[in-house]
Amino acid sequence: VALLICWMSLLYIFRRKKPAPNENYRKKSFTCVWLWFAVEYSRTLRKDVFHYMIKVDISNVWGQLTLGDLLAMEKEVADAHTTLVDGTGEGNDFLGWLNLPVREPTEEIKRIQSAAKKIRENSDVFVVIGIGGSYLGPRAAIELLQGPNHNIGKGKGNPQIFFAGNGLSTRHWNELQGLLEDKDFSIAIISKSGTTTEPAIATRALRWMLERKYGTAGAKERIFAITDPCKGALRQMATEEGWETFVIPQNVGGRYSVLTPVGLLPLAVAGIDIMEMMNGAVDAKETYDLRSFENPVWQYAAVRNLLYRNGKAIEIFESFEPGFKMFGGWWQQLFGESEGKDGKGIFPATAEFTADLHSLGQMIQSGVRNIFETMVRFDAPEKKMVIGGDAKNLDGLNYLEGRTLDFVDEKAFLGTLAAHVDGGVPVITMDCGELNDRKVGELFYFLELSCGVSAYILGVNPFNQPGVELYKRNMFQLLGKPGYEK
Ligand code: PA5
Repeated sequence: VALLICWMSLLYIFRRKKPAPNENYRKKSFTCVWLWFAVEYSRTLRKDVFHYMIKVDISNVWGQLTLGDLLAMEKEVADAHTTLVDGTGEGNDFLGWLNLPVREPTEEIKRIQSAAKKIRENSDVFVVIGIGGSYLGPRAAIELLQGPNHNIGKGKGNPQIFFAGNGLSTRHWNELQGLLEDKDFSIAIISKSGTTTEPAIATRALRWMLERKYGTAGAKERIFAITDPCKGALRQMATEEGWETFVIPQNVGGRYSVLTPVGLLPLAVAGIDIMEMMNGAVDAKETYDLRSFENPVWQYAAVRNLLYRNGKAIEIFESFEPGFKMFGGWWQQLFGESEGKDGKGIFPATAEFTADLHSLGQMIQSGVRNIFETMVRFDAPEKKMVIGGDAKNLDGLNYLEGRTLDFVDEKAFLGTLAAHVDGGVPVITMDCGELNDRKVGELFYFLELSCGVSAYILGVNPFNQPGVELYKRNMFQLLGKPGYEK
């Protein structure tokens, strides 16, 4: 528009040889130039607003949907967004996560930072005990930012981080016990209810190991509990034993808790700048409040619901980064537990490319046409891997000599995208830009917001999980827990 106005004003000034009577050239050209500045300035402002944004590209869904379909959803999406942020929908007593991001550290965040410093100094290993929403977030962020092999070469000063209490495998337990032998370690016990069986068993065992090694007083310095502010067995234990505690606010559900101490303590111990992450989440809170289809939250939430209505019942959330696998697991819980109820919901699956192109690729390309994909992209890192030449060229790779690995990755992405779209699989792409601590905070908040909006469009309560509670109750009954008899 700016260019058009500029071009028209120039045309206006120079093309007319003779001024019409009473025409005020100067005034008109001044107006045109002023208009041009106004448009350019507003464009700069918009850049300010939008430069953080995760770019959601929905151009590869048009084979299955039309722009008209999308625009017809505007009121539905607007209502869902308003219902969420105004707290007028079902589950509105669990909206505390909306306001967790802060620019400056709170007293609790400062305590987290000093606990993390102490743990980093006195421990070779930090064990994080928790399951579901009390585990996936921190593991997702650590692996995304530091890679799946983040523990290699770590020790005191920058401890290894292992996770426990997220299953009932004896083999996994034996392995962990072996890893902790002769190591100085500390633990964080994370459980909102304080009664979940898997973390409770791991807590009992690890606490005894600590007490045998350091004595009760020494162990006390190495046990941190993250739980409800007042209720539950873990809260009671922590109070009686004098462990340092951090709070999971009562109005924040497990899968929305990564920006509480649930995520913040393990991430700070891992050396991640938690205030950078929080600032990324504040950016997201401010930026994605936009109430229009320019908001990528709207685009993502609306398109996935439209695709679902068109028979696409499975979403594959995928990336070309191996470190993204656990992040996919976090997303899977967020969307699966939030939307899978009342006989509805998109099944959340995850994939790691290019590895899974050699396994799931066939199914995506030619199987039942009930799949859509959401492909998450990050900028390539600055440090490049350049493919070298080889005199014999027996592998036939010399045509790539001098090319970088990310050049090949980019072509793999474009090739996959084209193949899947041609095969009738709509693909949403999410371009996240640079991968850093701040971006991960933004991404967490962006996806939580998208999930809340999407679930309200679907017509379900995004904040309960009756199915999970049922399994827990059945297990208590089968184990003979007092109070759960038939
Ligand atoms: O999202 C949820 O609410 C669940 O996945 C819980 O986080 C999980 O069951 C663990 O519960 P708790 O933190 O009470 O031990």
